Amino acid sequence: MPGRTFLSVLDLSPEALETCLGLAARLKRERHLGADAPTARALAGHSLALLFDKPSLRTRTGFEIAMRELGGHVTCPPSADALGTREPLADVARTLERWASVAAVRTFEQARLHEFVEATTRLRIVNALTNEEHPCQALADCLTVHERCGAVTGRTLAYVGDGNNVATSLTHAAMMLGLNLRLASPEGFALSDATLAAARQVARHGAEVVQYQDPVEAVRGADAVYADVWTSMGQETDATRRRAAFQGFRVTRALMAKANDDAFFMHCLPAHRGEEVEEEVLEGPRSVVFDQAENRLHTQKALLLMMLEGVGI
Ligand code: CP
Repeated sequence: MPGRTFLSVLDLSPEALETCLGLAARLKRERHLGADAPTARALAGHSLALLFDKPSLRTRTGFEIAMRELGGHVTCPPSADALGTREPLADVARTLERWASVAAVRTFEQARLHEFVEATTRLRIVNALTNEEHPCQALADCLTVHERCGAVTGRTLAYVGDGNNVATSLTHAAMMLGLNLRLASPEGFALSDATLAAARQVARHGAEVVQYQDPVEAVRGADAVYADVWTSMGQETDATRRRAAFQGFRVTRALMAKANDDAFFMHCLPAHRGEEVEEEVLEGPRSVVFDQAENRLHTQKALLLMMLEGVGI
């Protein structure tokens, strides 16, 4: 079944990614129509299972509202029942497949999502964040860049911080859309060569991804500056070492001043104010973090429509 999984941005063709963003923009424009929106009953009869091993506000609630606004149902089995040690993941997946059309799963290793995929033939599976990738976030980020810049292709985004799941998915999407990416990370925290190679394979419109160790060099001439937490979920025992390693990688007003005059600030949230970003930047007029948060809803609606209605992927 084409488009059965969205474990990675790389599961989409570049054309499907563009379709998804265009559809999300349309859904955003039509949202005020409520029950009169053309898509208000589009997913009637479909159920979405939300399986979350880690905390979430934006992804989880975004999917709940998305599914309901498209006329579908949502079920949230407790994570201890669905993702714990009570039974093999494959048995959970095979059971859910009999009831639900799609599962959005937030867990630790990406390999756990592959267990879901291999155990089922019909269930659509969405990566709601793993240690390795966060593709749903990348959709919202690209829609936000498009809204701010009028286009994504040819623009330049500087990501300052950990070469983590958010950075990986953002790099995939940026390359596919022709968005240049500059990644500034301390030594030992950059994206792997394998991740960069995979991203470069899908690059279009001459997009380039370049790694830096100097945030100032990375943000010079950038249209947007992006930060994420220094310690992601599941890395809490490493927080002290990370805090030390990332000194100098905080996005401050002084760092923003090195980017283009109209450069805007992005963050996937939740943010640690005073750590990876200065309070004045996060709350300042150039911050688009709540546009990104809002766009999680519109892009997740578009993704569900495409996966369940077979549009574009
Ligand atoms: N950015 C993001 O994924 O937010 P949540 O962890 O709240 O879902």
